Amino acid sequence: MKATFNVLGVAGSTRHGSYSAQTLNIALGYSKKYGAEVRLLEVGRLPIYDPNAPASTEVEQAASAVVWANAIILASPDYHGSMSGALKNLLDHFYEEFAGKLFGYIVASHEKGLTVMDQMRTAVRQCYGWSMPYGVSINGPQDISGGKIVNTRLSNRLQMMSRDLVVYGKLVEGQFERDLESSEQDTFAAHYRR
Ligand SMILES: Cc1cc2nc3c(=O)[nH]c(=O)nc-3n(C[C@H](O)[C@H](O)[C@H](O)COP(=O)(O)O)c2cc1C
Repeated sequence: MKATFNVLGVAGSTRHGSYSAQTLNIALGYSKKYGAEVRLLEVGRLPIYDPNAPASTEVEQAASAVVWANAIILASPDYHGSMSGALKNLLDHFYEEFAGKLFGYIVASHEKGLTVMDQMRTAVRQCYGWSMPYGVSINGPQDISGGKIVNTRLSNRLQMMSRDLVVYGKLVEGQFERDLESSEQDTFAAHYRR
């Protein structure tokens, strides 16, 4: 088990001044307050997933951040009701690395971004990751100003999500680690033993 509880924030927008990235930064600040170590991963420079591509520094750095993480926050813009291609590309690079980790979700959308969250959840579920039962949707122009969330209800919800991610993430991670170390066969973690 890792000595610290590590939360990785994945910024899925490449837009300068991205609202989802600003919200993610605030969430990482809250997670830190609840005792987590935090890191930010920007996915814009990651090459398109190609199983035949030679190793690259960008992919190695992303891999090391994903392996380091105990829990992950995915932040995406709403693009046509889906996550950004850049974020989906990051997810395509990994699979087993996501297993047993808890994921939280942030979407920048003008329409609540629920379909975006559903799609992120689906991708995470396919990799045996766990998902927070709720997420945070931000409507940038009206909810954020000067790098701060001006909507108090939303700000409280983001703080709650950051807190829950750390608290529940520790439970999920702790049990997954115990299952990895045990010899019990009837657990999904048994598949990931080396
Ligand atoms: C290609 C594209 C598609 C978009 N599709 C939607 C959409 O379906 N629904 C929506 O509410 N906003 C949509 N938007 C608006 C963005 O979600 C919105 O500007 C958001 O703040 C972008 O996230 P960011 O600030 O993190 O970059 C779209 C924007 C782009 C560029």
